[in-house]
Formats: sequence, structure tokens, C-alpha cells
Amino acid sequence: MSTSCQGGGKLAIITPLTTNSSVLSEPGHASCLPALEEEGAFLTGFCLPEAARALAAEPSRRAGLLSPAEESLFRGLRSEKRRLDWLAGRGAAKRALARYFREARESTPDLPAIEISSDAQGAPRCSLPGAPSFSISHCAAGGLCAVGRGGRLVGADWEMVVPRCGELARLFARPGELPPGPDDRALTRLWAVKEAVLKLLGLGLAAPPRDVEVLPEIRLHGRARRRWLELGSPELRCAVAECGACGIGSSAGTGRTEVLTTGGAIAAVAHARPSLSGDRA
Ligand SMILES: CC(C)(COP(=O)(O)OP(=O)(O)OC[C@H]1O[C@@H](n2cnc3c(N)ncnc32)[C@H](O)[C@@H]1OP(=O)(O)O)[C@@H](O)C(=O)NCCC(=O)NCCS
Repeated sequence: MSTSCQGGGKLAIITPLTTNSSVLSEPGHASCLPALEEEGAFLTGFCLPEAARALAAEPSRRAGLLSPAEESLFRGLRSEKRRLDWLAGRGAAKRALARYFREARESTPDLPAIEISSDAQGAPRCSLPGAPSFSISHCAAGGLCAVGRGGRLVGADWEMVVPRCGELARLFARPGELPPGPDDRALTRLWAVKEAVLKLLGLGLAAPPRDVEVLPEIRLHGRARRRWLELGSPELRCAVAECGACGIGSSAGTGRTEVLTTGGAIAAVAHARPSLSGDRA
């Protein structure tokens, strides 16, 4: 299904928000995430906070994951939280990229050889020949990476469902997108889709989240729309998985892995295949 958007371009309407209410119930297992891959447009990788902590504590483990340049970057990261987030993201990304290369080629590079850097806007890049578009997100439940298949661009966001005050919601949402009453899950879902789309566009928060209208369908405005036009106005879709009422994560205070009794987590992966859109505005 597609629809015209302002200015005559064509944007796909999100096939709404696939929902899977699985719970992140065991270490090493995030049963909601594979559901994201159902359409086969991308694959995902995942890294639990406890795996990131083990990597942070043991240089010998990191040697199996990071290149020397990445190790030196890791050592330069200042805060403990940033180091753990960064490792969770790299762990998820390298795992997902290795899976991609395994599918696409006969040989799979070692994880340290899958070196990940960041572009000037902060978007992750891999310089290996044939490297796909990929996107990283981290939250208290761990690191998530989505890798585009078939030349697709991807953007990923993974968010814990936490209270989001109405004032903040009015800053990132358009009036028609706001739920009728307090609804942290709906607001988190909205935020995750907006951020996933902005990451796909390579903008991150350099463009206002209001530029991405999600409900009742995806429409882009302002800077996000200009970037989308530069990309050839590809059909844009987003898959969303909702992980149940608790998750495995680290509590901010103790740093220990424990079951977080939160409203759950929401993962969103936006994807687009520029070469097949054919619908230039
Ligand atoms: C991208 C951004 C929205 C992430 O927000 P977040 O919810 O705190 O973090 P997430 O865990 O979901 O995502 C972080 C990851 O997004 C990726 N990312 C950062 N900037 C990105 C961009 N412009 N496009 C795509 N991906 C981006 C990175 O991989 C980052 O993880 P890493 O730094 O460990 O590699 C935000 O950090 C951002 O916009 N940063 C850069 C743009 C910016 O603010 N510029 C200044 C303009 S005033």
C-alpha cells in the first residue's frame, strides 16, 4: 500500500507495527527480536548487557571482537555507561554483520576484521568490501543491530518503555499522533519508529523527530523529507517488535544483571530499498 505525500512523492504506508509480545526471559535470548525479521528485508544481531560487561572486564575477550583501532577507541571512552553501551552495540553489530557475510559470501571474516567506524554524523560504517547498510541501538536491555539485505537501507532503535511526560511528547510528536490519554507504550513506539527512520536517513537527531510523521502513516517533512528525496524517494517501511513486561538488563545503580520490571522494550527497524522504488518525486 502506498500513498502520495506532500510534493507528489510516494511513500509506503507502514504495514502497521507488527507486534510480538514475547518476553525477554532468559539471558542470551531475546525472543521478540527474530520476529522483526519476518519480512526478510534485514537481519538482526543482539548483545546482552552481561556480555558487554564481560567484554569490558576482560581484554582477552575483547581481542576476539575488536580490531586494534577499535580497542584504542574503546579505551578512550570516558563513562562506564558509554563503554558498556558501545560494546553492546559493537557486539550486536559484528554478530549481525558476520551472519550477513556468511549468507552473502563463502568466507566469513573474523569479528575483529569487521571493523566499524562512525561517519561525521555518528552513523556506523564498515569498510569491508560489500558491506551492507546497518544500524545500531542500545538500551538497558542490550545492544541491537539491524543489517539490510538486498541493498536495503536500515535504521534501528531499541527503547525501554519508560514514562514520557506529555511536554516531551508534544515536542517530538505531531498533534494527531498523540494518544488520547497517558500511554507510555504508545509514545515509546512512536519515538522508536521516528528514531529508526531518522537513522535510516543518516540524520539521527540532527533533524527534528517531528519531521517524521508516523501516524496514521509515514510522511516526511522538512529536512527528513529533503534527505529522503536525495535518496530517490524509496519506499519506506518499518517493523516493530514489542517485548513483554520485563527484560534482562542492568540496573543503573548496581550494575548487576537482573530482571527489570519495566513496561518492556520496543524495537523498531525502518528499511527501504532505493533501487527498486522507481517513484521519484
Ligand atoms: C542517533 C541518535 C538519535 C541516537 O540516540 P540514542 O537514542 O541516544 O541512542 P541509540 O542507542 O538508539 O543509538 C545510538 C547509535 O546510533 C547510531 N547513530 C548515531 N548517529 C547516527 C546518525 N546520524 N545516523 C544513523 N545512526 C546514527 C550510532 O551507531 C550510535 O551508536 P554508537 O555511537 O555506539 O555507534 C543521537 O545520538 C544523534 O542524533 N546523534 C548525532 C546527531 C546530532 O545530534 N548531531 C548534532 C546536531 S545539533
